[in-house]
Formats: sequence, structure tokens, C-alpha cells
Amino acid sequence: MELRDRIDPHRVPRHVAIIMDGNGRWAEKQGEMRVIGHMNGVNAVRETLVGATEIGIEHLTLYAFSTENWNRPRSEVDALMDLLVKTLLSEIDGLNENGVKLNAIGDLASLPEGCHDTLLEAMERTAGNDRITLNLALSYSSRWEIVQMVQALAVKAKEGRIAPADIDAEMIAAHLSTAGIPDPELLIRTSGEERISNFLLWQIAYSELYFTPVLWPDFGKEELFRAVLDYQGRERRFGKISEQVNRQG
Ligand code: FPP
Repeated sequence: MELRDRIDPHRVPRHVAIIMDGNGRWAEKQGEMRVIGHMNGVNAVRETLVGATEIGIEHLTLYAFSTENWNRPRSEVDALMDLLVKTLLSEIDGLNENGVKLNAIGDLASLPEGCHDTLLEAMERTAGNDRITLNLALSYSSRWEIVQMVQALAVKAKEGRIAPADIDAEMIAAHLSTAGIPDPELLIRTSGEERISNFLLWQIAYSELYFTPVLWPDFGKEELFRAVLDYQGRERRFGKISEQVNRQG
């Protein structure tokens, strides 16, 4: 039986987040420059997105560029920004044909102007789509996002628009860049590294974590389906005991 047919359509995670890792190692293994790994990483993004759409995932969030990635060699940063612009421009029709709404989270103002403008244009041109939302995390880090949220709440408190006692988990979530997006049920990281690297720290409080040795350019539909099947085999207890969870059916 195909992997896809083994997935229970009633228990597909609504939101899957992915730390795409291993582009550089993939390229080095082939004796190529790192940028070739990133270029092949774009194919993996496309294939994963198609797979996510096929099984009814509503939100796919990809860690495409972290705040810390600015510290990479200038040539690699430039190549990644260039690749992002070219990919957005070449994929926009495909996104529209497949009902993909593009969204971005992170410190978008820090992106080079051309990249920022292209991103906003792509978001605008796909805004009417509703089959799946692709959230690109760009110049993103969770600590950055949490600092922004605390500053926004502090300003509101200082201006008397909220009282400190009003601040609860719901208000915090509403002031993060993922406001309105359900928390990911499943977080995937490729390339064998088993860490979170400053990604969605608040949002993954109850996420299932899935680590695979597959390098990102080799990831795709089948690997996504494998991760979803693994997720469906787990019991999510949210702090309760097994019997309580099973009684709820
Ligand atoms: C991690 O591999 C990957 C990145 C930092 C960038 C991811 C970018 C892409 C997949 C291409 C652009 C994406 C879009 C959405 C257009 P790494 O370089 O850290 O690999 P390594 O750990 O093996 O060095």
C-alpha cells in the first residue's frame, strides 16, 4: 500500500512546521558549492508543498532564513536572498494554480529592499487563495518574536489599553507573528540534527517532534507522508493520562 493511502484523512495535522536543514552537507557530498544545495532545496520545498496540499494540511511553515543566518558569509546570504526572489517570481503562478496563500513571518523589514518588495507582491497576489497557507519564516527567530511581543504588550500597558493582569496565554499568542495560525501539531527537522534552533518556541509547546537523517534536498512528498504517519501513530496526551485521552475517543 502506498504511504499516502495509509494516512488517516481525519487525523491529518492542520499545521506542520519544518526546519529545513542539510542543504550545505548535501552539496558537499556531491562536491558542489553550498548554493547548489539551496537550489535543490527549492525543489524539495515545491514537492513538500504539493504533498501537504494533497493530504489536506492547512498550514505549512518553513524555516527558510533565521536571524542567525545573517552571520553566514556574505556571498551565501546574497545567494539565498537572490534565490528567494527568483523562486517567488517563478513560482507565483504555480502557487495560484494550487490554491496556495503565501504568508511570511519574521523581521521582514531587515530583508534587502528587492526581496522585501517581491515577497509583499507575492503575498498580495496569492492573498485570495485558501487551500493551504505557506508561511515562510524569514529573518525569523523565536526570541526576536518574543521580544517584539513583550514590547508591544508593554506599550499597551503603559498607555493604559490593557492591565498587566489581562495578559494571558491567548493574548501572548495574539501578539506573535503567528497570530491567527493554529499551533503546529507536528515539527519536522531534517539532516539528523536534533535541536529547535530558536524556531517557534512558544507555538511548539505541545507539538510532536520528528527528526529524520534525510538531508533537506532529498526531502519531499514521501518523506512528509512518512512523518505524518509517524505522528498518527503517537498518542497526544496534553498532560493527561492515557485512559482519559482514550475515553474522549
Ligand atoms: C539549511 O541548510 C537551509 C537553509 C539555511 C536555507 C533554506 C533555503 C532553501 C531551502 C531555499 C530557499 C527557500 C525558499 C522557500 C524559496 P544548511 O545550509 O544549514 O545546511 P548544512 O547544515 O548542511 O550546512
